[in-house]
Amino acid sequence: MPEIVVDKLSHTFGKGGVDALTVLKDIDLTFESGSFNAIIGTSGCGKSTLLKMMAGLFDPTDGEMRLDGEIIKGTNQRRGMVFQQDAVFPWMTVAKNISYGPRLRGASKDEQREIEAKWTEMVGLKGFEDRWPRELSGGMRKRVDIGRVYANDPDVLLMDEPFGALDAQTKERMQSDLLNTWRQTRKTVVFVTHDIEEAIFLSDRIVVMSARPGRVHHIEEVSLPRPREDEMRLTEEFLAIKRRLWAMLDH
Ligand SMILES: Nc1ncnc2c1ncn2[C@@H]1O[C@H](COP(=O)(O)OP(=O)(O)OP(=O)(O)O)[C@@H](O)[C@H]1O
Ligand SMILES: [Mg+2]
Repeated sequence: MPEIVVDKLSHTFGKGGVDALTVLKDIDLTFESGSFNAIIGTSGCGKSTLLKMMAGLFDPTDGEMRLDGEIIKGTNQRRGMVFQQDAVFPWMTVAKNISYGPRLRGASKDEQREIEAKWTEMVGLKGFEDRWPRELSGGMRKRVDIGRVYANDPDVLLMDEPFGALDAQTKERMQSDLLNTWRQTRKTVVFVTHDIEEAIFLSDRIVVMSARPGRVHHIEEVSLPRPREDEMRLTEEFLAIKRRLWAMLDH
């Protein structure tokens, strides 16, 4: 069964007249259960808006989204979101940030400790459990964000340019880490990025959106084998996809 269905979705901010801004128009998409999907498109085409609606932060003005046939309404633990901006709690240690969701839901001390150990390790922060966010680099804070969302064990992982602000090397390492984690958990991922290479390296499918109002311009199926290795970025197949997508984004 397909996991997420976006059905004739449109969204307009503001009400009528000069204030109305149609950001998304007639979007139809299906994200298969357990697949890794990227969304690319120029700045302002509505990528974050689409992702926030999938998270249930607000409703579309037209159309709907369904998760396993159930209309998405309001936020839910099943759908976890890593925001474009850093969202760690500065007043909590790394471990406490990561176990925040389970703690809210009444996990016992033992369960919390288990979750903290598992996810700090998974996001490569073992040894930093008792550090404060201010003691971490930007990339490490982003990993805390990701670990916290993972610790909630959502079925759907919504990621909005999570590696956007990182240097190329850190970014590549985190992409590989993310793929390793995804291989072990097989969540349905929707990953927004500006970065064509990142989209190809990570995804099964790439949705290319056109400029505002955002529409689905093209869907690229990426059939590169998995596990993905860094060397693949230089293969002819990879570069051919990159050239094709780059030409699309250029207009
Ligand atoms: N809450 C809001 N109220 C009014 N307009 C909004 C709101 N949120 C976003 N917009 C507008 O909607 C458009 C799409 O914004 P969105 O953040 O979805 O773009 P994006 O594709 O994520 O861009 P970027 O790649 O720069 O992150 C922009 O023109 C933005 O100004
Ligand atoms: Mg955005």
